[in-house]
Amino acid sequence: MLVEGENICYKYDGGGFFALQDVDLRIKQGEFVAILGGNGSGKSTLVRHLNALLKLQQGELKVAQIDLRNEEEIWRLRRLCGMVFQNPDHQFVSSVVEEDIAFGLENYEVPRAEIPARVQAALAMVEMTGYEKRAPHTLSGGQKQRVALAGVLALEPEIIIFDEATAMLDPRGRQEVVAIMHKLRQAGKTIIAITHYVEEAVAADQIILMHQGRILACGRPQSILTNRDLMRAAELIPPLPVRLYYDLQQAGVYLNRCPLTEEELVEAICQLKSKT
Ligand SMILES: Nc1ncnc2c1ncn2[C@@H]1O[C@H](COP(=O)(O)OP(=O)(O)OP(=O)(O)O)[C@@H](O)[C@H]1O
Ligand SMILES: [Mg+2]
Repeated sequence: MLVEGENICYKYDGGGFFALQDVDLRIKQGEFVAILGGNGSGKSTLVRHLNALLKLQQGELKVAQIDLRNEEEIWRLRRLCGMVFQNPDHQFVSSVVEEDIAFGLENYEVPRAEIPARVQAALAMVEMTGYEKRAPHTLSGGQKQRVALAGVLALEPEIIIFDEATAMLDPRGRQEVVAIMHKLRQAGKTIIAITHYVEEAVAADQIILMHQGRILACGRPQSILTNRDLMRAAELIPPLPVRLYYDLQQAGVYLNRCPLTEEELVEAICQLKSKT
């Protein structure tokens, strides 16, 4: 198990309530995990534990066998577990793309001679080769987010956490970032993506559904996203094909399985036609 957490509880200073309560977490190497839940359900608080941005208060947590209580391991952990945030503008430290990516590497004392090649490889991974000399503020939202991601990838992390990294992007920018997430998954990285777009969770290996600091359910997309009661309890709206499935049912039309994607929906409707 790459990530193993048990009974994690967390209270912010001054907060009278638990932002996380009795959270158990199991993530395998190479998994694509989507974390869903309404505002304030504890998603960010949970993932911020994984690279020790928040200190473990209660419970147990191990990431790649590193015990999060061991403060001496924090830097190794941060390198292993990269994070991309919602607002790309808050993630740049330099006004030149390549320098921004190099900065992180210098911070982690990567030998100077290795830096240019690492920067190039990271930019290639996010399909931003050719933008080395550009100023981040001149890029589109999707491009900025990909450069921010390159900064993370240059450190060669095992786990990449996206905390609503697509929230501020237009549909095209979002699509670009999601495509890179899947490319990274294909390359064997473990991806943890917090998102408010339930459609982005459809292709996940595991969905973790959060509500009021607790894990309400976790499992395959098919079992989570098609469960109307569960989705309602988490204050989430199921993907459009799922809603259509139930609407059709109400109208007396029964598809033979609940579709998660448009393709599955079309397929189910076609099967219906061929039966009649
Ligand atoms: N720095 C903080 N100090 C005090 N309370 C906080 C702090 N950050 C978050 N909280 C509280 O902890 C709870 C969980 O917040 P968290 O940010 O983890 O939720 P989230 O699921 O990421 O929400 P969102 O979808 O809005 O990003 C919320 O009630 C929030 O108000
Ligand atoms: Mg959040």
